[in-house]
Amino acid sequence: MLMYKINFIKTFAMVAALTVCSFSQGFAQKKLDTTFLNQQLKDAILQIKVLAKNTPEHMLPRSFNVGKSIHSESGWWTSGFYPGTLLYLYEYAKDPELLALAKQKLKLLEKEQFNETTHDLGFMLYCSFGNMMRITGDTATYKPILLTGAKSLATRYSPITKTIRSWDFDNFPVIIDNMMNLEFLTAAARLGGNSQFRDIAVTHANTTMKEHYRKDMSCYHVVDYNPKDGTVIKKKTNQGAFDESAWARGQAWGLYGYAMMYRETGDKKYLKFANQIAKYMLNHVNMPNDLIPYWDFDAPNLPDSNKYAPYRTNRDASTAALMASAFIEMSTQVKGKLAKQYLNVAETILKNLSSIAYKATYGSNGGFLLKHSVGSIPHDSEIDVPLTYADYYYVEALLRYKRLLDGKKVID
Ligand code: GLY
Repeated sequence: MLMYKINFIKTFAMVAALTVCSFSQGFAQKKLDTTFLNQQLKDAILQIKVLAKNTPEHMLPRSFNVGKSIHSESGWWTSGFYPGTLLYLYEYAKDPELLALAKQKLKLLEKEQFNETTHDLGFMLYCSFGNMMRITGDTATYKPILLTGAKSLATRYSPITKTIRSWDFDNFPVIIDNMMNLEFLTAAARLGGNSQFRDIAVTHANTTMKEHYRKDMSCYHVVDYNPKDGTVIKKKTNQGAFDESAWARGQAWGLYGYAMMYRETGDKKYLKFANQIAKYMLNHVNMPNDLIPYWDFDAPNLPDSNKYAPYRTNRDASTAALMASAFIEMSTQVKGKLAKQYLNVAETILKNLSSIAYKATYGSNGGFLLKHSVGSIPHDSEIDVPLTYADYYYVEALLRYKRLLDGKKVID
């Protein structure tokens, strides 16, 4: 309790300092400027071309570890992030090489529109084809792919559990990550797809509010439902430190997911929920001063006897990148001091991710932009490595911030 108070005071002092600064500069004044943003985006373009060289034609980049590039095929959940990052950077620089590289990878991904074995189709298809359609305006080519993909995703919905099934093992497991795939469904409904896509997204979000979240507004990673009657069989973790812990990326998937659902539906209850998640994360006693979270909020407290004790203080840059992007959007969804606080948080994260501590120097890190992410410590997989989705949300956050500076809406 005392630690909570100390941390609250610490966060309050930090935010107050940033707020005073913002007040004195006026609301339009931001702490990051165009020069900073342009530098990060230009560096990202140079670096992603290194990644392109390290990536075989028939594969997608996933990570880099002990001097070795790690790739995936199109069916892996992260396959859409690299083409998505190329497209974001193309949107910024209009460099035709980036568009050509993205188009090449989209050819590999096209078949995933028929994949009914994964809930990750939002990541795989909306980050890739969704961005391609938005940026090029080519609806004739890309809309049919998106609508078929949304139909495939919707096959995983159960009206009994009122959720979309995540994995095809256990009973009917749903992971918090699945909140991120809902944007694909709301967008598909808007594009003229089945209106049930939107209803499914809303129902899934509502069920997740009820079943995934604890009183303190942290969330479980996994809720396993009984597919026959919709009751909950077990609440647990898969990638976190223990069942009752707060796996960091899961908290960020939820934060981003509910802010996105507010944007997509206009329903204020989602914004209220996202604000409560934000409060949990930002006031947490274990949130480091640089706002790059540990891989699990509870990890620093693990006893020496715990098998994950050696990883107590591993940071996860992917969580931070997601938070930066979500908080930029949320800074436009709320008003006054809270808006400033959210923007200040995003600014701090972007500054730190862009520092030598997290951002790779040109040509290093296998061509990935950011260092120090964590895939899954319990699976002894991708520990303290770059990850393609960390890069995607980092670039997304940079672009969102740039849109703010340019006086545009964060998301069109
Ligand atoms: N969606 C899997 C992960 O966040 O690691």
